[in-house]
Amino acid sequence: MATAPDTAERDYFTDKSVLLDPYDFFEEIRARGPVVELTNRDMLFVTGFREAVEVLLNKADFSSMIAGPGPAAPLPFEVHGDDISEMVAAYTASIRERELMVNQDGDMHLAARSLLNPLLVPSRLKANEAFMESFADEMAREMVAKGGCEVVNEVAVPYVTLVIADLLGVPAEDRQQFRDVIDAGPPPGNMDAAEDMTQSAALTFMIGYFMRYLGERRANPQSDIMTELALARYPDGTLPDLVEPAKAAMFLFAAGQDTSAKLIGNSMRYICENRDMQDRLRADPSLIPAFLEEMLRLEGSTKMTARLAVRNTRIGDVEVPAGKRVFIGLAAANRDPRRWDDPNAFELNRPRIKEHVAFGRGAHTCAGAPLARVEVRVLFERLLRHTSEIAISEKHHGPPENRDLRYEASYIIRGLEKLHIDLKPR
Ligand code: HEM
Repeated sequence: MATAPDTAERDYFTDKSVLLDPYDFFEEIRARGPVVELTNRDMLFVTGFREAVEVLLNKADFSSMIAGPGPAAPLPFEVHGDDISEMVAAYTASIRERELMVNQDGDMHLAARSLLNPLLVPSRLKANEAFMESFADEMAREMVAKGGCEVVNEVAVPYVTLVIADLLGVPAEDRQQFRDVIDAGPPPGNMDAAEDMTQSAALTFMIGYFMRYLGERRANPQSDIMTELALARYPDGTLPDLVEPAKAAMFLFAAGQDTSAKLIGNSMRYICENRDMQDRLRADPSLIPAFLEEMLRLEGSTKMTARLAVRNTRIGDVEVPAGKRVFIGLAAANRDPRRWDDPNAFELNRPRIKEHVAFGRGAHTCAGAPLARVEVRVLFERLLRHTSEIAISEKHHGPPENRDLRYEASYIIRGLEKLHIDLKPR
């Protein structure tokens, strides 16, 4: 059973020191057990790998209703009794028009997710990869010619945004608009800028755009991916309201933009600070996928997700009452010493590395994981191919012994705000 901390616990959600570097905090909590009640928040905090997987796979007892809003947001109803499943189902049904698949449960979630099927087939991803290769090559050449760049916002964000736009078949002439509205939005998981995801200006723009675009395809089908999305049916054969595929399309940008861009920044920092690894990857690019899996485990860009207990249940040997919010520390589970030998060390080709939970697990496992893996690999291949050395810019971040590198103050996302790099041509 969990013990109380000796000193006052820092607040995960608002304490800047924890937001900027969560790893010591995770270890402080882990020292009290793999599943503990926080002292200053009404929630359970899971740092254990086995326990995190257990909750993620337990769809019967846990709802995803709070995955997006997060475990610190107030519940929209009062909890009574040992089983709140009906309350949760009624609430989710009532807001169906605005909610996103990540917050849905059961059949409603399966139906929403099924609309992505036409996009995520191997042939579509293959075509998308061809776009990634030419776009990444073009960007890499351009940045090398300049001698350097700011990799997170100048390279990664436009790259991953346009990759998703290409996946969806957004015409080339409209793509700049997507970049512009997305660039204007705040990063997710920042309590200061807490904004309901469905209310943000960028996402409102996208819903409107896709509604119009998909509507045109329903009226006049063409032989393109947007038509397939417009005509996709639910597993029971019914045709969804137009807003549903529009939400699915829009959600790809919300879910897949910052996450991938920050993974690019975190991984780039690593190869700048570990020149041996940079040289190995440059000499043998077939090592890049294994390198990225270990980066996902150690510096994955999604620190956490959350679930709500819908009935009295357990996680491991900890009793969980109905209505309890559960913080699932994905980044903590990925460093659980009971699961990973020497968990804080980077190890290329770690056994069974793909079992990390950087992409979640179970019904809500990241739908974009195959895409994320390919897009980040392709960008690294091209940047390494066109350079003989990539280094952190001392001009912007100071010398190695006194680096000024800042992380996003987000409770969800782990990633550098900026990373300026110097690129030496090959
Ligand atoms: C390194 C990059 C990424 C990371 C670390 C990441 C992480 C995650 C995680 C942890 C979840 C599960 C959330 C939960 O269980 O509550 C998730 C869900 C999701 N991700 Fe990703 N993601 C990444 C990139 C992408 C990309 C590129 C896309 C799309 C193009 C994408 C689309 C989605 C979608 C649609 C879901 C919701 C799935 C569902 O609710 O069924 N993600 N992601």
